[in-house]
Amino acid sequence: MNEKTIVHIKNLNHYFGGKSLRSQVLSDINLEIKAGEVIIMTGPSGSGKSTLLTLIGGLRSVQEGSLKVLGWELYGASDEKLVQVRRHIGFIFQSHNLLEFLTARQNVQMALELHNEPDRIAKAKAEAMLHAVKLGNRINYYPSDLSGGQKQRVAIARALVSQPKLVLADEPTAALDSKSGRDVVDLMQQLAKEQGCAILMVTHDNRILDVADRTIYMEDGKLFKEVVL
Ligand SMILES: Nc1ncnc2c1ncn2[C@@H]1O[C@H](COP(=O)(O)OP(=O)(O)O)[C@@H](O)[C@H]1O
Ligand SMILES: [Mg+2]
Repeated sequence: MNEKTIVHIKNLNHYFGGKSLRSQVLSDINLEIKAGEVIIMTGPSGSGKSTLLTLIGGLRSVQEGSLKVLGWELYGASDEKLVQVRRHIGFIFQSHNLLEFLTARQNVQMALELHNEPDRIAKAKAEAMLHAVKLGNRINYYPSDLSGGQKQRVAIARALVSQPKLVLADEPTAALDSKSGRDVVDLMQQLAKEQGCAILMVTHDNRILDVADRTIYMEDGKLFKEVVL
């Protein structure tokens, strides 16, 4: 694993349920993600894509195998360590998960709160990122006054404002029409290339596969390297 490797997964297994109800949802996953790479993961519903994303993101504990993120081994990692790892990752989910009682700027700025930025600088960074996602004229709007595509762009700004080395996106365009979906993905790709961060994105959206440097395919808990787009 050299410094260009952001994620390194070896022989990862995962199970849900205990005793007789135990079922394997991930089987012998191996994957390496390099800095700046955009990887798209497809595959049927229930195949284990979200489970893998949450494991990489330190949102659940690794049960078997090795999962290294940004040089940290997550197998056997303490809760404190997982929290620390999460700070270096940007998350984008299908639904934007914005806080309704905060403005666009406040939602984005929140992502910087764990990073001990002085308020003034955090505010400036949040505003700059909202400009970057073309929401410079919506900075003080509440989520309820934004369209679906605009809310998802706020979520992207929030995920990228702390300049993470890794962004995990779980069906980020699922709730959007095709034009907004395209815009959102183009923006993610552009900002990622500018910041040199890697993106792992789950999507069923065939129209956006071209942003990927590489696509991978999950079926029944197994990961396949896809040969043809
Ligand atoms: N918290 C959970 N407890 C038990 N089973 C779960 C849990 N989360 C997901 N599963 C099961 O694990 C499998 C994979 O789910 P998931 O990772 O969400 O798939 P995908 O994102 O590809 O649709 C499914 O069979 C799902 O029902
Ligand atoms: Mg899922």
